[in-house]
Amino acid sequence: MNNVEDVLHWADNLIFNDTGEHLTPIQEAILTGVWQRQKYPQIAKNYNCGESHIKKEAAKLWEKLREELGEDLNKFNFRSKLEKKYRVSNISHLHDSLLQIDNVICGQFIQTIRDTQTRSHSPPNSPQNQNPSPIIDIADAPELTNYYDRTSELSTLKQWILAQTRLITIYGLSEIGKSAIAVKLIEQIQTQFDYIIWRSISNATTLSALQTDLKQFFSQSQQTPLPTVIDYFRSYRCLVILDDVQNIFRSGQLAGQYLAGYEDYGKFFKQIATSSHQSCLILLSWEKPREITTLEGENRPTKTLHLKGLGEQAEEILREKGLTDEEQWSELITLYQGHPSWLNIIAATIQELFNGSVSLFLAEQNEIFLGDLEPLLESHLERLSETEKQVSYWLASQAEAVDISQQTDGALSKSEILQAIQSLARRGLVEKVQVGTRSHFQIDRIFKPYIARD
Ligand SMILES: Nc1ncnc2c1ncn2[C@@H]1O[C@H](COP(=O)(O)OP(=O)(O)O)[C@@H](O)[C@H]1O
Ligand SMILES: [Mg+2]
Repeated sequence: MNNVEDVLHWADNLIFNDTGEHLTPIQEAILTGVWQRQKYPQIAKNYNCGESHIKKEAAKLWEKLREELGEDLNKFNFRSKLEKKYRVSNISHLHDSLLQIDNVICGQFIQTIRDTQTRSHSPPNSPQNQNPSPIIDIADAPELTNYYDRTSELSTLKQWILAQTRLITIYGLSEIGKSAIAVKLIEQIQTQFDYIIWRSISNATTLSALQTDLKQFFSQSQQTPLPTVIDYFRSYRCLVILDDVQNIFRSGQLAGQYLAGYEDYGKFFKQIATSSHQSCLILLSWEKPREITTLEGENRPTKTLHLKGLGEQAEEILREKGLTDEEQWSELITLYQGHPSWLNIIAATIQELFNGSVSLFLAEQNEIFLGDLEPLLESHLERLSETEKQVSYWLASQAEAVDISQQTDGALSKSEILQAIQSLARRGLVEKVQVGTRSHFQIDRIFKPYIARD
């Protein structure tokens, strides 16, 4: 059954109606996994986090759904209860049943569905509104050769598109697979749009040059061109993918600050998120733009995906490279965080130095081997501000995730430390771990030895 999107949509609406909050990516991963009959360890692996974190989040989620529905839901009965309740047999059927039955359970839900549908005169997920031949220009996008599925992230993205999210940011380390997943997404949702265009942003692309370029593309098939990009966004279903958006951010400053002369991009992104239209802008970036956080906080149709490594699918990379000792592959994948490029590079080293034997390679490790990864890591570190450098050095010298209120070194003020941590997180270099009620922070495991060594 291929309706996990409907389930996510349903749960998102249910929770949103009550709390004004959307499902978080981890909640979506849990629902998707459970719906696909996966166990928590599998879901944790796919989501690239610890099993206990998934369990904790899942417990909270079931509790929330229980409160909303007044029914005892858990990982064992979730799918069967929903199927029984809604007698799901196919996608459109689910929509209909949801409309009828939720009327009883949660009166507001109907309104939400109506709201989503009236937002555009043509709900994109109804078959009659699919466009079998959208106008597409994705010559700028990289070509995919081998692609190993990221099922949960893709279904999250598809669900956001179906729910008419206007601004989606996918951020994460370089070469983690942002462009790849966006190409895959286009393949799967292209009939939802009339126009699809992919542009890679360099630090020479001013906003006005970009807008002229976009308008030219949209106007090719028009008798009378429209005055602005937003006009096209209102009149048609356009999907615009901007790749390498980090190129318009400053180096040596906190994350997500525009280069001089490029600040108007921020206003443009905000306009896309806040004005009414039926299109979608997807940003691919190493850094999360600053205004996105504010827009998300206001519950605008704005979503952010922090793209992390591949889960067990990364084994395909090792298989393709002809490595041996399969029983130790998962250890290698965990060590290099399922990062497709890092694994490719390390796999080449293992071939060169250990004849493909993963176990010989792992046996040699006193500290994690970086080798050819260093230039990739350096390209991130050279973008950091001075305070970020200091804070990341401090984090890298700690054995475990730290409680920042424990920082005693007086060189930086509390607010400087907080800002730096926030910025490092917007670059995907620092992660938050929940320890009891407190948030602790840790630096990425691969960057840690590299920074600590300097
Ligand atoms: N899901 C995937 N399966 C296989 N290879 C992948 C996958 N995602 C990324 N890669 C590979 O990793 C490399 C970097 O991916 P890319 O999408 O260009 O990263 P980014 O856009 O984040 O810098 C490419 O060679 C790409 O083919
Ligand atoms: Mg890319």
